[in-house]
Amino acid sequence: MNYNLNKKYQDIYNIALPYYKKGREADDLHHLVVAKMMQYLLKEYSDLDQEVMMVAALLHDIGYSKFSKQEKKIHWANKIKKIHMQYGAELAKKVLLKLNFSEEKIKIICEIISVHDNPEFITIAENPAL
Ligand SMILES: [Fe+2]
Repeated sequence: MNYNLNKKYQDIYNIALPYYKKGREADDLHHLVVAKMMQYLLKEYSDLDQEVMMVAALLHDIGYSKFSKQEKKIHWANKIKKIHMQYGAELAKKVLLKLNFSEEKIKIICEIISVHDNPEFITIAENPAL
């Protein structure tokens, strides 16, 4: 897989890098892989807002940066998983305000981040494998 991102998204990746580094081990690579996967998905789902989806992919797990070393060791625990979505949305809002994103896009991106690991939002209709 080619891990190069468009300049616009590479810039956001670079801005988010300090959060990745403070997050879980290999969060820098995780976000890069998810962003690349999103780029491929967006070729199929061209009706989606490419910028919203790419930025959400690049920032979705930055909330882990706010946890202690001990908490990060149990990042899979439900409590931590739940809070990382909320922290991530709060941090993403700050980052996106600095980057002058519109209020509307910030709202949508933060909403995605605030629920991205919540299985309640995956329905049978959306995922026939369930
Ligand atoms: Fe997550």
